Amino acid sequence: MNTTPSFPPGFLWGTATSSYQIEGAANEDGRGRSIWDDFCRYKDAITDGSDGSVACDHYHRYREDVALMKQLGLKAYRFSIAWPRILPEGRGAINPKGIAFYDRLVDELLAANIRPFVTLYHWDLPSALNAQGGWTTRDSAAWFADYATVVVRALGDRVKDWITLNEPWCSAYLGYEFGMHAPGYQNKALAARAAHNLLLAHALGMQAIRAAADAETRVGITLNFEPRLPASDSEEDRQAAEQEFDWMYEGFAEPILTGAYGQRMLDRLAGADIRAGDMAMIAARNDFIGVNYYSAVHIRAGRGAVYDDDPEFTLMGWAVRPHGLHAILTKLHRATHGRTPIYVTENGASFTDMVTDGRVHDVRRVAYLRAHFAAAQRAIQDGVDLRGYFVWSLLDNFEWALGYQQFFGIVHVDYTTQKRTIKDSGYYLRDVIAANAVVEPSA
Ligand code: FCB
Repeated sequence: MNTTPSFPPGFLWGTATSSYQIEGAANEDGRGRSIWDDFCRYKDAITDGSDGSVACDHYHRYREDVALMKQLGLKAYRFSIAWPRILPEGRGAINPKGIAFYDRLVDELLAANIRPFVTLYHWDLPSALNAQGGWTTRDSAAWFADYATVVVRALGDRVKDWITLNEPWCSAYLGYEFGMHAPGYQNKALAARAAHNLLLAHALGMQAIRAAADAETRVGITLNFEPRLPASDSEEDRQAAEQEFDWMYEGFAEPILTGAYGQRMLDRLAGADIRAGDMAMIAARNDFIGVNYYSAVHIRAGRGAVYDDDPEFTLMGWAVRPHGLHAILTKLHRATHGRTPIYVTENGASFTDMVTDGRVHDVRRVAYLRAHFAAAQRAIQDGVDLRGYFVWSLLDNFEWALGYQQFFGIVHVDYTTQKRTIKDSGYYLRDVIAANAVVEPSA
Protein backbone atom coordinates (compact mmCIF):
# COMPACT_ATOMS: atom_id res chain seq x y z
CA MET A 1 0.00 0.00 0.00
CA ASN A 2 1.22 3.45 -0.92
CA THR A 3 1.08 5.82 1.99
CA THR A 4 1.73 9.50 2.56
CA PRO A 5 3.55 10.52 5.75
CA SER A 6 1.95 9.52 9.04
CA PHE A 7 -0.29 11.72 11.11
CA PRO A 8 1.15 12.65 14.50
CA PRO A 9 1.08 9.89 17.12
CA GLY A 10 -2.13 10.00 19.13
CA PHE A 11 -3.99 11.78 16.33
CA LEU A 12 -7.68 11.53 17.26
CA TRP A 13 -9.64 9.92 14.47
CA GLY A 14 -13.36 9.88 15.01
CA THR A 15 -16.83 10.41 13.67
CA ALA A 16 -19.46 12.99 14.58
CA THR A 17 -23.23 13.00 15.04
CA SER A 18 -25.81 15.17 16.77
CA SER A 19 -28.67 14.34 19.10
CA TYR A 20 -31.71 15.37 17.05
CA GLN A 21 -30.31 13.82 13.89
CA ILE A 22 -29.89 10.30 15.29
CA GLU A 23 -31.48 9.71 18.70
CA GLY A 24 -35.21 9.49 18.02
CA ALA A 25 -37.15 8.62 21.21
CA ALA A 26 -38.45 12.16 21.10
CA ASN A 27 -41.22 11.51 23.60
CA GLU A 28 -39.45 9.12 25.90
CA ASP A 29 -38.11 9.27 29.42
CA GLY A 30 -39.27 12.80 30.08
CA ARG A 31 -37.59 14.58 27.15
CA GLY A 32 -39.08 18.05 26.63
CA ARG A 33 -39.89 19.51 23.22
CA SER A 34 -37.28 21.28 21.15
CA ILE A 35 -37.58 23.90 18.43
CA TRP A 36 -36.85 21.16 15.89
CA ASP A 37 -39.87 19.13 17.00
CA ASP A 38 -41.92 22.27 16.43
CA PHE A 39 -40.27 23.31 13.17
CA CYS A 40 -40.78 19.87 11.60
CA ARG A 41 -44.54 20.35 11.97
CA TYR A 42 -44.61 23.51 9.85
CA LYS A 43 -45.94 22.95 6.38
CA ASP A 44 -43.15 22.39 3.83
CA ALA A 45 -40.41 23.02 6.38
CA ILE A 46 -38.83 19.60 5.75
CA THR A 47 -38.57 18.48 2.13
CA ASP A 48 -39.82 14.94 2.74
CA GLY A 49 -42.23 15.92 5.51
CA SER A 50 -40.25 13.88 8.03
CA ASP A 51 -38.95 14.65 11.53
CA GLY A 52 -36.47 13.32 14.08
CA SER A 53 -38.96 11.47 16.26
CA VAL A 54 -37.44 8.08 15.38
CA ALA A 55 -34.39 8.95 13.24
CA CYS A 56 -31.72 6.22 13.70
CA ASP A 57 -33.27 5.10 17.00
CA HIS A 58 -29.82 5.59 18.49
CA TYR A 59 -31.40 6.22 21.90
CA HIS A 60 -32.20 2.49 22.02
CA ARG A 61 -29.39 1.24 19.80
CA TYR A 62 -26.40 3.13 21.18
CA ARG A 63 -24.73 -0.11 22.27
CA GLU A 64 -24.82 -1.45 18.72
CA ASP A 65 -23.58 1.90 17.43
CA VAL A 66 -20.66 2.01 19.85
CA ALA A 67 -19.82 -1.56 18.82
CA LEU A 68 -19.66 -0.36 15.19
CA MET A 69 -17.32 2.45 16.19
CA LYS A 70 -15.13 -0.04 17.97
CA GLN A 71 -15.10 -2.31 14.95
CA LEU A 72 -13.87 0.64 12.86
CA GLY A 73 -11.17 1.43 15.40
CA LEU A 74 -12.38 4.96 16.18
CA LYS A 75 -10.33 6.77 18.81
CA ALA A 76 -12.95 9.41 19.54
CA TYR A 77 -16.63 10.15 19.02
CA ARG A 78 -18.23 13.57 18.85
CA PHE A 79 -21.90 13.63 19.80
CA SER A 80 -24.25 16.24 21.21
CA ILE A 81 -26.49 16.36 24.23
CA ALA A 82 -30.17 17.13 23.79
CA TRP A 83 -30.78 20.08 26.11
CA PRO A 84 -34.50 19.20 26.46
CA ARG A 85 -33.62 15.70 27.70
CA ILE A 86 -31.61 17.20 30.55
CA LEU A 87 -33.85 20.19 31.30
CA PRO A 88 -37.28 19.58 29.73
CA GLU A 89 -38.27 23.21 30.36
CA GLY A 90 -34.85 24.52 29.39
CA ARG A 91 -34.02 25.50 32.95
CA GLY A 92 -35.05 24.52 36.45
CA ALA A 93 -36.01 20.90 37.03
CA ILE A 94 -33.42 18.31 35.95
CA ASN A 95 -34.63 15.10 34.28
CA PRO A 96 -32.57 12.27 35.80
CA LYS A 97 -33.52 9.87 33.00
CA GLY A 98 -32.03 12.23 30.45
CA ILE A 99 -28.76 12.34 32.33
CA ALA A 100 -28.86 8.56 32.75
CA PHE A 101 -28.90 8.06 28.97
CA TYR A 102 -25.72 10.06 28.44
CA ASP A 103 -24.16 8.35 31.47
CA ARG A 104 -24.72 4.99 29.79
CA LEU A 105 -23.45 6.25 26.44
CA VAL A 106 -20.27 7.73 27.93
CA ASP A 107 -19.57 4.54 29.91
CA GLU A 108 -20.12 2.43 26.82
CA LEU A 109 -17.66 4.59 24.86
CA LEU A 110 -15.02 4.53 27.55
CA ALA A 111 -15.33 0.75 27.85
CA ALA A 112 -14.63 0.62 24.09
CA ASN A 113 -11.64 2.93 24.56
CA ILE A 114 -13.31 5.72 22.56
CA ARG A 115 -12.86 9.28 23.78
CA PRO A 116 -16.11 11.24 24.08
CA PHE A 117 -16.13 14.77 22.61
CA VAL A 118 -19.36 16.36 23.75
CA THR A 119 -21.16 19.22 22.04
CA LEU A 120 -23.57 20.95 24.39
CA TYR A 121 -25.65 22.67 21.75
CA HIS A 122 -26.25 21.26 18.29
CA TRP A 123 -29.45 23.16 17.54
CA ASP A 124 -32.16 21.51 19.65
CA LEU A 125 -33.15 24.42 21.88
CA PRO A 126 -35.94 23.61 24.37
CA SER A 127 -39.23 24.98 23.06
CA ALA A 128 -39.98 26.44 26.48
CA LEU A 129 -36.97 28.76 26.09
CA ASN A 130 -37.95 29.73 22.58
CA ALA A 131 -41.28 30.86 23.99
CA GLN A 132 -39.27 33.23 26.20
CA GLY A 133 -37.34 34.68 23.30
CA GLY A 134 -34.82 31.92 22.65
CA TRP A 135 -31.46 33.17 21.37
CA THR A 136 -32.87 36.62 20.66
CA THR A 137 -32.84 37.47 24.36
CA ARG A 138 -29.59 38.07 26.23
CA ASP A 139 -30.89 35.83 29.00
CA SER A 140 -30.21 32.88 26.71
CA ALA A 141 -26.49 33.14 27.45
CA ALA A 142 -27.10 32.59 31.17
CA TRP A 143 -29.61 29.79 30.46
CA PHE A 144 -26.96 28.07 28.39
CA ALA A 145 -24.30 28.47 31.07
CA ASP A 146 -26.62 26.97 33.70
CA TYR A 147 -27.41 24.05 31.44
CA ALA A 148 -23.67 23.54 30.78
CA THR A 149 -23.03 23.46 34.52
CA VAL A 150 -25.65 20.72 35.04
CA VAL A 151 -24.17 18.56 32.27
CA VAL A 152 -20.54 19.03 33.27
CA ARG A 153 -21.35 18.19 36.90
CA ALA A 154 -22.96 14.96 35.70
CA LEU A 155 -20.40 13.84 33.11
CA GLY A 156 -17.27 15.89 33.77
CA ASP A 157 -15.62 13.12 35.77
CA ARG A 158 -15.39 11.11 32.50
CA VAL A 159 -15.77 13.63 29.67
CA LYS A 160 -12.74 15.91 29.28
CA ASP A 161 -13.44 17.53 25.90
CA TRP A 162 -16.35 19.94 25.58
CA ILE A 163 -17.66 21.93 22.66
CA THR A 164 -20.04 24.72 23.63
CA LEU A 165 -21.88 25.41 20.36
CA ASN A 166 -22.04 23.83 16.95
CA GLU A 167 -22.03 26.31 14.06
CA PRO A 168 -23.66 29.36 15.67
CA TRP A 169 -23.71 30.95 12.18
CA CYS A 170 -26.37 28.40 11.20
CA SER A 171 -28.30 28.79 14.46
CA ALA A 172 -28.49 32.56 14.00
CA TYR A 173 -28.86 33.07 10.28
CA LEU A 174 -30.50 29.88 8.96
CA GLY A 175 -32.78 29.92 12.01
CA TYR A 176 -33.68 33.58 12.37
CA GLU A 177 -32.91 35.34 9.08
CA PHE A 178 -33.57 32.79 6.33
CA GLY A 179 -36.20 30.69 8.10
CA MET A 180 -34.59 27.50 6.74
CA HIS A 181 -33.89 26.00 10.15
CA ALA A 182 -35.71 26.11 13.50
CA PRO A 183 -37.17 28.30 14.84
CA GLY A 184 -37.93 29.37 11.24
CA TYR A 185 -38.01 33.15 11.53
CA GLN A 186 -37.19 35.62 8.77
CA ASN A 187 -36.09 38.72 10.57
CA LYS A 188 -32.66 40.32 10.14
CA ALA A 189 -32.69 42.19 13.43
CA LEU A 190 -33.63 39.08 15.39
CA ALA A 191 -30.88 37.16 13.61
CA ALA A 192 -28.35 39.84 14.54
CA ARG A 193 -29.40 39.65 18.18
CA ALA A 194 -29.22 35.85 18.12
CA ALA A 195 -25.75 35.90 16.54
CA HIS A 196 -24.26 38.09 19.25
CA ASN A 197 -26.11 36.32 22.06
CA LEU A 198 -24.78 32.98 20.83
CA LEU A 199 -21.23 34.30 21.13
CA LEU A 200 -22.06 35.50 24.61
CA ALA A 201 -23.48 32.05 25.40
CA HIS A 202 -20.22 30.52 24.23
CA ALA A 203 -18.28 32.86 26.54
CA LEU A 204 -20.46 32.27 29.62
CA GLY A 205 -20.64 28.57 28.77
CA MET A 206 -16.83 28.30 28.74
CA GLN A 207 -16.66 30.04 32.12
CA ALA A 208 -19.30 27.70 33.55
CA ILE A 209 -17.60 24.57 32.19
CA ARG A 210 -14.22 25.63 33.56
CA ALA A 211 -15.76 26.39 36.96
CA ALA A 212 -17.44 22.97 37.12
CA ALA A 213 -14.62 20.89 35.64
CA ASP A 214 -11.13 19.73 36.60
CA ALA A 215 -7.78 20.88 35.23
CA GLU A 216 -7.66 18.19 32.54
CA THR A 217 -10.77 19.57 30.89
CA ARG A 218 -10.57 21.24 27.48
CA VAL A 219 -13.25 23.47 26.06
CA GLY A 220 -13.73 25.04 22.67
CA ILE A 221 -16.28 25.88 20.00
CA THR A 222 -17.13 24.40 16.60
CA LEU A 223 -17.52 26.87 13.74
CA ASN A 224 -18.45 26.31 10.11
CA PHE A 225 -16.22 27.71 7.39
CA GLU A 226 -16.60 28.21 3.67
CA PRO A 227 -13.42 30.04 2.70
CA ARG A 228 -13.33 32.50 -0.18
CA LEU A 229 -10.42 31.46 -2.39
CA PRO A 230 -8.99 32.92 -5.59
CA ALA A 231 -10.25 31.08 -8.68
CA SER A 232 -6.79 31.37 -10.26
CA ASP A 233 -3.21 32.33 -9.40
CA SER A 234 -3.68 35.81 -10.82
CA GLU A 235 -3.03 38.80 -8.58
CA GLU A 236 -6.48 40.22 -9.40
CA ASP A 237 -8.29 37.08 -8.28
CA ARG A 238 -6.15 36.86 -5.16
CA GLN A 239 -7.05 40.40 -4.18
CA ALA A 240 -10.71 39.90 -5.03
CA ALA A 241 -10.87 36.79 -2.83
CA GLU A 242 -9.16 38.62 0.00
CA GLN A 243 -11.64 41.46 -0.14
CA GLU A 244 -14.70 39.25 -0.37
CA PHE A 245 -16.95 39.37 2.70
CA ASP A 246 -16.56 36.09 4.60
CA TRP A 247 -19.64 36.14 6.79
CA MET A 248 -18.90 32.91 8.65
CA TYR A 249 -15.32 33.86 9.47
CA GLU A 250 -15.93 37.53 10.22
CA GLY A 251 -19.10 36.82 12.17
CA PHE A 252 -17.68 34.26 14.59
CA ALA A 253 -13.99 33.31 14.27
CA GLU A 254 -12.82 36.91 14.09
CA PRO A 255 -14.58 38.23 17.22
CA ILE A 256 -13.46 35.16 19.16
CA LEU A 257 -9.84 35.45 18.02
CA THR A 258 -9.47 39.22 18.07
CA GLY A 259 -12.11 40.47 20.51
CA ALA A 260 -13.73 42.75 17.92
CA TYR A 261 -16.15 42.68 15.03
CA GLY A 262 -14.97 44.24 11.80
CA GLN A 263 -16.92 47.11 10.27
CA ARG A 264 -18.73 44.90 7.74
CA MET A 265 -19.96 42.70 10.56
CA LEU A 266 -21.00 45.67 12.68
CA ASP A 267 -23.14 46.80 9.76
CA ARG A 268 -24.77 43.38 9.64
CA LEU A 269 -25.28 43.31 13.38
CA ALA A 270 -27.57 46.33 13.42
CA GLY A 271 -30.15 45.65 16.13
CA ALA A 272 -27.90 43.39 18.21
CA ASP A 273 -27.54 44.06 21.92
CA ILE A 274 -23.77 44.52 22.19
CA ARG A 275 -22.64 45.88 25.56
CA ALA A 276 -19.41 47.05 27.07
CA GLY A 277 -17.42 44.10 28.32
CA ASP A 278 -19.00 41.56 25.95
CA MET A 279 -16.13 41.46 23.52
CA ALA A 280 -13.49 40.83 26.17
CA MET A 281 -15.48 37.83 27.39
CA ILE A 282 -16.03 36.56 23.85
CA ALA A 283 -12.29 36.72 23.20
CA ALA A 284 -11.46 34.42 26.13
CA ARG A 285 -8.97 31.79 25.08
CA ASN A 286 -10.37 28.56 23.67
CA ASP A 287 -8.48 25.36 24.44
CA PHE A 288 -9.16 24.36 20.83
CA ILE A 289 -11.11 25.45 17.78
CA GLY A 290 -13.35 22.98 16.00
CA VAL A 291 -13.53 23.34 12.22
CA ASN A 292 -16.49 22.11 10.20
CA TYR A 293 -15.49 22.12 6.57
CA TYR A 294 -17.41 20.90 3.53
CA SER A 295 -16.73 23.29 0.66
CA ALA A 296 -15.17 26.55 -0.48
CA VAL A 297 -16.13 29.39 -2.81
CA HIS A 298 -13.93 30.40 -5.75
CA ILE A 299 -13.76 34.12 -6.42
CA ARG A 300 -12.87 35.73 -9.74
CA ALA A 301 -12.10 39.43 -9.96
CA GLY A 302 -15.11 41.39 -11.20
CA ARG A 303 -17.35 38.32 -11.14
CA GLY A 304 -17.53 37.13 -7.56
CA ALA A 305 -18.28 33.47 -6.87
CA VAL A 306 -17.70 31.18 -9.86
CA TYR A 307 -18.35 27.50 -10.44
CA ASP A 308 -16.93 27.32 -13.95
CA ASP A 309 -13.73 25.54 -13.03
CA ASP A 310 -15.49 22.20 -13.22
CA PRO A 311 -15.47 20.93 -9.69
CA GLU A 312 -17.35 17.86 -8.64
CA PHE A 313 -20.54 18.44 -6.65
CA THR A 314 -21.99 16.30 -3.87
CA LEU A 315 -25.69 15.46 -3.53
CA MET A 316 -25.98 18.60 -1.38
CA GLY A 317 -24.82 20.60 -4.39
CA TRP A 318 -21.61 21.47 -2.59
CA ALA A 319 -18.45 21.79 -4.71
CA VAL A 320 -15.72 19.31 -3.78
CA ARG A 321 -12.71 21.49 -2.98
CA PRO A 322 -10.29 19.75 -0.64
CA HIS A 323 -7.72 22.55 -0.95
CA GLY A 324 -10.18 24.74 0.96
CA LEU A 325 -9.63 22.60 4.04
CA HIS A 326 -5.90 23.25 3.85
CA ALA A 327 -6.64 26.96 3.35
CA ILE A 328 -8.86 27.34 6.40
CA LEU A 329 -6.59 25.27 8.66
CA THR A 330 -3.53 27.31 7.76
CA LYS A 331 -5.48 30.57 8.07
CA LEU A 332 -6.65 29.68 11.58
CA HIS A 333 -3.14 28.58 12.48
CA ARG A 334 -1.82 32.01 11.52
CA ALA A 335 -4.72 33.82 13.18
CA THR A 336 -4.06 32.02 16.49
CA HIS A 337 -0.26 32.40 16.15
CA GLY A 338 -0.10 28.63 16.31
CA ARG A 339 -1.16 28.68 19.95
CA THR A 340 -4.59 27.08 19.67
CA PRO A 341 -4.94 23.42 18.78
CA ILE A 342 -7.42 22.68 16.01
CA TYR A 343 -9.72 19.74 15.36
CA VAL A 344 -11.66 19.05 12.21
CA THR A 345 -14.95 18.44 14.01
CA GLU A 346 -16.91 17.72 10.81
CA ASN A 347 -16.07 16.83 7.24
CA GLY A 348 -17.79 14.43 4.91
CA ALA A 349 -20.03 14.11 1.90
CA SER A 350 -23.54 13.14 0.90
CA PHE A 351 -23.93 10.93 -2.15
CA THR A 352 -26.63 8.47 -3.18
CA ASP A 353 -25.71 4.94 -2.08
CA MET A 354 -26.86 1.47 -2.98
CA VAL A 355 -26.68 -1.63 -0.84
CA THR A 356 -25.67 -4.60 -2.97
CA ASP A 357 -24.94 -7.99 -1.42
CA GLY A 358 -24.62 -6.41 1.97
CA ARG A 359 -21.99 -3.93 0.79
CA VAL A 360 -22.10 -0.24 -0.12
CA HIS A 361 -19.47 0.66 -2.70
CA ASP A 362 -19.43 4.40 -2.09
CA VAL A 363 -16.39 5.16 -4.22
CA ARG A 364 -17.10 8.88 -4.40
CA ARG A 365 -17.32 9.27 -0.63
CA VAL A 366 -14.07 7.32 -0.26
CA ALA A 367 -12.40 9.64 -2.78
CA TYR A 368 -13.81 12.72 -1.04
CA LEU A 369 -12.48 11.60 2.34
CA ARG A 370 -9.12 10.56 0.97
CA ALA A 371 -8.60 13.96 -0.68
CA HIS A 372 -9.62 15.86 2.45
CA PHE A 373 -7.47 13.69 4.73
CA ALA A 374 -4.55 14.45 2.41
CA ALA A 375 -5.30 18.18 2.62
CA ALA A 376 -5.27 17.94 6.42
CA GLN A 377 -2.00 16.05 6.25
CA ARG A 378 -0.49 18.84 4.14
CA ALA A 379 -1.68 21.40 6.69
CA ILE A 380 0.08 19.46 9.46
CA GLN A 381 3.26 19.40 7.39
CA ASP A 382 2.89 23.16 7.05
CA GLY A 383 2.93 23.44 10.83
CA VAL A 384 -0.76 23.43 11.75
CA ASP A 385 -1.40 22.00 15.21
CA LEU A 386 -4.21 19.70 14.06
CA ARG A 387 -5.06 17.20 16.78
CA GLY A 388 -7.90 15.17 15.34
CA TYR A 389 -10.43 14.63 12.59
CA PHE A 390 -14.09 13.70 12.95
CA VAL A 391 -15.86 12.45 9.86
CA TRP A 392 -19.47 13.59 9.45
CA SER A 393 -21.15 11.28 9.97
CA LEU A 394 -21.11 7.89 11.66
CA LEU A 395 -24.62 7.12 10.39
CA ASP A 396 -26.91 8.26 7.62
CA ASN A 397 -29.30 10.49 9.54
CA PHE A 398 -31.94 13.24 9.61
CA GLU A 399 -30.35 16.03 7.57
CA TRP A 400 -32.43 18.89 9.02
CA ALA A 401 -34.66 20.61 6.44
CA LEU A 402 -33.62 17.98 3.87
CA GLY A 403 -34.99 15.13 5.97
CA TYR A 404 -33.84 11.62 5.16
CA GLN A 405 -32.86 12.43 1.58
CA GLN A 406 -29.20 13.13 2.20
CA PHE A 407 -26.68 10.45 3.11
CA PHE A 408 -23.55 11.49 4.98
CA GLY A 409 -22.98 8.23 6.88
CA ILE A 410 -19.98 5.97 6.61
CA VAL A 411 -22.55 3.50 7.87
CA HIS A 412 -25.76 3.03 5.89
CA VAL A 413 -29.05 2.97 7.80
CA ASP A 414 -32.13 1.21 6.48
CA TYR A 415 -34.87 3.30 8.09
CA THR A 416 -37.54 0.59 7.89
CA THR A 417 -35.50 -2.04 9.69
CA GLN A 418 -32.87 0.18 11.36
CA LYS A 419 -30.25 -2.20 10.00
CA ARG A 420 -26.78 -0.71 9.86
CA THR A 421 -24.35 -1.61 7.05
CA ILE A 422 -20.79 -0.36 7.07
CA LYS A 423 -20.04 1.35 3.74
CA ASP A 424 -16.71 1.05 1.94
CA SER A 425 -15.94 4.53 3.28
CA GLY A 426 -16.29 3.12 6.80
CA TYR A 427 -13.77 0.40 6.00
CA TYR A 428 -11.55 3.00 4.37
CA LEU A 429 -11.63 5.11 7.53
CA ARG A 430 -10.77 1.98 9.52
CA ASP A 431 -7.70 1.42 7.31
CA VAL A 432 -6.63 5.06 7.59
CA ILE A 433 -6.93 4.92 11.38
CA ALA A 434 -5.00 1.65 11.55
CA ALA A 435 -2.16 3.11 9.45
CA ASN A 436 -2.54 6.63 10.90
CA ALA A 437 -1.85 7.76 7.36
CA VAL A 438 -3.72 8.45 4.12
CA VAL A 439 -3.59 4.97 2.63
CA GLU A 440 -4.77 4.11 -0.87
CA PRO A 441 -8.31 2.75 -0.91
CA SER A 442 -8.36 -1.01 -1.44
CA ALA A 443 -9.95 -1.93 -4.76
C1 FCB B 1 -23.39 20.80 9.39
C2 FCB B 1 -24.14 20.40 10.64
C3 FCB B 1 -24.41 18.92 10.74
C4 FCB B 1 -24.78 18.33 9.39
C5 FCB B 1 -23.76 18.70 8.35
C6 FCB B 1 -24.02 18.12 7.00
O1 FCB B 1 -23.71 22.11 9.08
O2 FCB B 1 -23.41 20.76 11.79
O3 FCB B 1 -25.41 18.72 11.71
O4 FCB B 1 -26.05 18.76 9.05
O5 FCB B 1 -23.69 20.09 8.24
